[in-house]
Amino acid sequence: MHPFADSTLTLLTSGYAWAPGLRRRHGDGPAVPARLMGRPALLLHGPAAVDFFYDERHVLRHGALPGPVLDTLFGRGAVHTLDGETHRVRKELFTTRLMTPDGVDDLGRLAREHWLRTVDGLRGRRAVLFDEMAVALAAAVCEWSGVPVADGAAVRRLAEDCVAMVDGFATPGPRHWKARRARSRQEAALARAVADVRRGAVALSSGDRPTVLEAVAAHRDADGTPLDLHTAAVELLNVLRPIVAITWFTTFAAHALHHFPAVREELRADHGRYARAFAHEVRRCYPFVPFVGGLAARDLRFDGQDVSEGTLVLLDVPGHHRDPGLWPEPNRFDPRRFLGREPGPGELIAQGGGNARTGHRCPGEDITVHLLATLAATLPGLGLDLPDQDLGIPVGRIPTRPRSGVIVRVPSRSR
Ligand code: HEM
Repeated sequence: MHPFADSTLTLLTSGYAWAPGLRRRHGDGPAVPARLMGRPALLLHGPAAVDFFYDERHVLRHGALPGPVLDTLFGRGAVHTLDGETHRVRKELFTTRLMTPDGVDDLGRLAREHWLRTVDGLRGRRAVLFDEMAVALAAAVCEWSGVPVADGAAVRRLAEDCVAMVDGFATPGPRHWKARRARSRQEAALARAVADVRRGAVALSSGDRPTVLEAVAAHRDADGTPLDLHTAAVELLNVLRPIVAITWFTTFAAHALHHFPAVREELRADHGRYARAFAHEVRRCYPFVPFVGGLAARDLRFDGQDVSEGTLVLLDVPGHHRDPGLWPEPNRFDPRRFLGREPGPGELIAQGGGNARTGHRCPGEDITVHLLATLAATLPGLGLDLPDQDLGIPVGRIPTRPRSGVIVRVPSRSR
């Protein structure tokens, strides 16, 4: 019998406070044993842990993610759950299609246009920034990816569903059931869209690149077979959902700009470099992904501890970003720490560590940073007013966000 009691319930109730609490009780070491979902687990922390975790000889993904997370956040059969050659070939779908600088620029331009149009439509009114940004991002990603949506109501529904899938993955209550319904609805719609492309019922893109929808419809896995309709829908959603989820970061960005007026002024005066540094600092300071996880591929040793095959291995994400050994004054919000430089592969791990092409690191990191920088840069010039509201960010809720969602009053005329 493993000596530690199962922490699943504590994790569900303490949220982001669970990992730091566990580490503190065990002397803040780089490897802390635990028990989660009925199996032995090890919580890893620090740069050596990042290298260890992202070595496929150590940690595999198949069977690591619990069903309730797959049925809400990622989808059954998603790239997240694959290993080895099967993973590498599926991953190319994301890295070759999404990582082109032109594709990222196009999406950034569309996101900015849709967001500014949304703001214009809200003149003289109050709105919740989190919700409206999600809709603008959904509109942008549909246009960019070639995914058909009937009208504005369908875009709003897609935005709400994508938010629900992220919001409900780590809770057993009503948010979870909402997330499951959202996933079923969107998987069905996207499977129809892929089927339409395959039978030639929609016009192919006129540009020199296939759209994301066309690329997914045409993709062949390592065994040479096309994705079945369900898996194709799952992977399309693995593009749409996280792009809409950038609303978590832009909402945190609005929170930071409200609390740090000096940063707001620097961003207002900026011509690009500071906005990118600001985006990195938002990803470092605000909690979103609590940890990433996999299963020990064989019997291993890390930092003098035996790790038996099949142990659930978790890598601490928010703790890494607040470690005083890695960051001078870690609790200070200071975008200048990233000014004129990009973070190293194991430095900022908000979207995973290691290499995005060969490992499980997020393939959407360039998109996230570019969209976050572009959209945040619009905020200081919009003249948005924040009325009294609860901007507290509860640590017990995964994923968390400012309680109010950041309510803004949009001026009647642009200033
Ligand atoms: C994987 C975070 C945006 C697509 C991941 C991982 C994290 C992450 C932590 C897992 C790393 C691991 O398991 O080791 C985020 C955050 C985002 C974001 C916080 C901000 C909203 C995006 C975007 C896209 C995307 C914009 C696509 C356009 C994916 C995919 C994977 C992934 C497909 C699976 C990669 C694999 O297993 O090989 N993301 N991501 N994500 N992300 Fe993101």
